Amino acid sequence: MNESIAVQAKNLYKVFGKKPKEVARRLSEGASRDEVSALGTAAVIDASFEVKTGEIFVVMGLSGSGKSTLIRMLNGLVEPTSGTVTVVGTTITDISQAELRRVRQKSVSMVFQHFALLPHRTVLENAAFGLEVQGIAPVERRARAQRVVELVGLAGWEDKLPRQLSGGMQQRVGLARALTAETDVLLMDEAFSALDPLIRREMQEQLVELQAELGKTIIFITHDLNEAMFLGDRIAVMRDGRIVQVGSPEDILTDPANDYVAQFVQDVDRARVLTAASVMEPASAEVSVTSGPRNALRTMRDLQSSAVFVVGRGRQYLGVVRDRDVMRQVKAGETDLRDILRKPQAVSPDTPLVDLVEPSIESGLPLAVVNETGKLLGTIPRVTLLAALGNVPLTTQSIPIMESPSRLTRRDISEALTETVGYEAAAGTEHRTGGRA
Ligand SMILES: Nc1ncnc2c1ncn2[C@@H]1O[C@H](COP(=O)(O)OP(=O)(O)O)[C@@H](O)[C@H]1O
Ligand SMILES: [Mg+2]
Repeated sequence: MNESIAVQAKNLYKVFGKKPKEVARRLSEGASRDEVSALGTAAVIDASFEVKTGEIFVVMGLSGSGKSTLIRMLNGLVEPTSGTVTVVGTTITDISQAELRRVRQKSVSMVFQHFALLPHRTVLENAAFGLEVQGIAPVERRARAQRVVELVGLAGWEDKLPRQLSGGMQQRVGLARALTAETDVLLMDEAFSALDPLIRREMQEQLVELQAELGKTIIFITHDLNEAMFLGDRIAVMRDGRIVQVGSPEDILTDPANDYVAQFVQDVDRARVLTAASVMEPASAEVSVTSGPRNALRTMRDLQSSAVFVVGRGRQYLGVVRDRDVMRQVKAGETDLRDILRKPQAVSPDTPLVDLVEPSIESGLPLAVVNETGKLLGTIPRVTLLAALGNVPLTTQSIPIMESPSRLTRRDISEALTETVGYEAAAGTEHRTGGRA
């Protein structure tokens, strides 16, 4: 198995009931879940996926769709009816119980929804519990647990008992216990579902931070779509025991595999999931700074646009020029677009849409999407932003490139260009339209 794959599931089935093997075989031959329901409950049907090392992989589905059964097969708590599971290089579906215990200690730990803390032990002792089971000496145990307790934000609470803590803090202890084991893979089954919304959001943010810091592979189960979208690098959507789609949050939002997924994602908070990169348009109204005002004006006339983006070498984003300013330059015989450059705020491609609304309204110009080296990647006109937020398909193919209507008519521009034809030579003639470089 590839080193960068932490967990692999291949054709996994789990059937509860009288004749599990027979049910699994008939399902694999094409029978439906209902057709075989008299013989057993098919909790997981033909699940195959790979989780990359360091990824947060979310399994999402309604209650009863098979999520818990699936995740429990990944650490051997539930034995599959058929199929294989490989965890950090070990195929756990054909090893002894003793070997399986070792894999669990070394490679996979689990955080449950109802924290499962030991009531008479302190926070620190609870965090160290897994190490105690592994037979690690008390001093090392305490030191390791202490580090993790601090990491999850419980410094100062080491000696408290679980009942002295809020639900959110208890779940931090649950998380600490799983982290203390220092396994590569963390399985989390509805770990935040019992928490109040605000605490829950806080825990989600902390989990993302911890993941970035510790580089764990996390398989996170939830029935909450917004949680899935916030946490998941990739999401597997389950329905009636089957995985119906695996993809990034954006894939799932913008390209749902079927009507079921589409309906499921209808209510998602798109503004927080979709990013600038996923909605931007190619910056078609774009000129090179060296090509000069006459060329800029001609471009605006041809595209019927009241402003254009100006780029430097290697498509470095420099700013925007408006038609009136360019017209003034042309009439005055000036040649440097830099003198009239406006610099509306540029946004990075990973900015969520919710953070684009204000800049978009403030600038009155389409937003420039610019990467970390300053290169212009694309543009987001306000209509595009609104359409994406409202999940409204844009009906026209060509979107106005600059929203504020031009005060200059094509005739004004053509006249200005003709009257000042003598200046033509002063500026270059490079004229770029369309396409991403
Ligand atoms: N131990 C079990 N015995 C019989 N049926 C079970 C068992 N565990 C789960 N199931 C059934 O399998 C299906 C999937 O359950 P589960 O994996 O718990 O779903 P989820 O976690 O998505 O709510 C359900 O129909 C459930 O009733
Ligand atoms: Mg469950």
